[in-house]
Amino acid sequence: MRFKADSNRVRAVRDEKIFGHFIEHFHRQIYGGVYDPGNSLSDKDGLREDVLEAMRNIHVPILRWPGGCFVSSYNWKKGVGENRVPVFDKAWRVEEPNTFGTDEYIALCRKIGCEPYICTNAGTANAEEMSDWVEYCNLSDEGEWARLRALNGHPSAYRVRYWSIGNENYGHWEIGAKTAEEWGPLVRESAKMMKHVDPSIELSAAALTDVDWNVSLLKYAGKYLDWISIHEYWDHLAETNACSPYDKVMEYTEDVGHSIRKIRGLLEAFGLEKNIRIAFDEWNVRGWYHPNVHTIRQGLTKEEYLYPRDRNDDNSLYTMADAVFSACFLNELLRNADIVGMAAFAPIVNTRGCIFTYDKGIVLRSTYHVFDLYTNRLGEEVLDAWYPDPDPAIDAVATAFSGKKRWAVAAVNKDSSSMRKIAVDLDVVGDVKMAWISGSSPDSFNDIGRNDVKIMEKGYGRFSKGMEFSLPAHSVCIIEIAER
Ligand code: AHR
Repeated sequence: MRFKADSNRVRAVRDEKIFGHFIEHFHRQIYGGVYDPGNSLSDKDGLREDVLEAMRNIHVPILRWPGGCFVSSYNWKKGVGENRVPVFDKAWRVEEPNTFGTDEYIALCRKIGCEPYICTNAGTANAEEMSDWVEYCNLSDEGEWARLRALNGHPSAYRVRYWSIGNENYGHWEIGAKTAEEWGPLVRESAKMMKHVDPSIELSAAALTDVDWNVSLLKYAGKYLDWISIHEYWDHLAETNACSPYDKVMEYTEDVGHSIRKIRGLLEAFGLEKNIRIAFDEWNVRGWYHPNVHTIRQGLTKEEYLYPRDRNDDNSLYTMADAVFSACFLNELLRNADIVGMAAFAPIVNTRGCIFTYDKGIVLRSTYHVFDLYTNRLGEEVLDAWYPDPDPAIDAVATAFSGKKRWAVAAVNKDSSSMRKIAVDLDVVGDVKMAWISGSSPDSFNDIGRNDVKIMEKGYGRFSKGMEFSLPAHSVCIIEIAER
């Protein structure tokens, strides 16, 4: 297949925040995941050094926290200071020890050099509790909450720039769910108080592609928002852990950008497409497995609603299907870089995440290597590109590094069994190499002591316009051209 890109036509400069991640107080993401004070691999603050190192390597630009469904009954005030008491987390139906709260989260972000992105409780909390959180984080010394932060040993304001109002508040599963009519006014009033505390913050609010929801949100609160938050999991696995096989996952890639298209249309209808960008702040091909939790059915036992979540941590479930899907999705974000400015892979650690922790180390799942390729090897400028003779198995994006004689093409081969060829029609010169992940089969995965999915690299000498590359079956490849 021929892939033509114009090195002189930059479609958009992507925001690095599209390579962001999410972490929630769910199962072993925080406790026993990134935060594990008793573990010999943890630093003095209880953070796992090996996890931090892995996060730094993929340049996590932004980390959304603390939920997810968890946040909709979370009281942040119970998670700061000396005397913290455990509470019962009514979303996930477990005890929340409250030992990891705002200060620990900010410490984590600082250590990996990423932007914090706090999602507030718009389920059981109100505008005052949300804006108190902004005071705690962003005011230097005025008022009760900034003074409390200083008293807790943090005299300098945290300057958290990115905030979101609520998480999936449209959903029947969410604690304190709202109707479309309630949502717009609640967001407006919360936004008003939060931005009165700190006018420099950027604000998002929970949304989905539903027209009524967005009409209420944008009509009442559009002028207070900088972002609109949407989520998507394609393989719905909350009640069953039967992950779809490779070919089914490839079907999901066929219209991977449908939500972006719909939200773009709605923003345009409101004339807000230049003011509000999309924060795709939870995404993963695999939905999380937590059967029987969002229900009030009587008589359920922990064997039925709690223990099954351990099965999210089976590394054999995260194969090249996950990697190829994730690369196709990131390609779609790059193609929509003018309107999507932020995204969060959900989650980063454990559950369906790209980093798995165990007592003595970590496993880098297939999706981790996709982030490694995309954050370390692609340029920030997305070039205009097209396929004169398309091959449905190939999904490609061309990028350039601004101010440098360096270009990189991300090319995915979705075909489960055959190698495919791509001729790169790009008018540039330089040395060329290809880095890729493939694994020996579409079902390849990594686990403790097993490293089947890894980055490979091969040099091809000098690049010439139209040069052909072989993309291995079920692979994610980056073709890199650079003039020395
Ligand atoms: O299944 C996990 C949940 O998925 C997250 O908490 C929520 O935001 C989404 O519905």
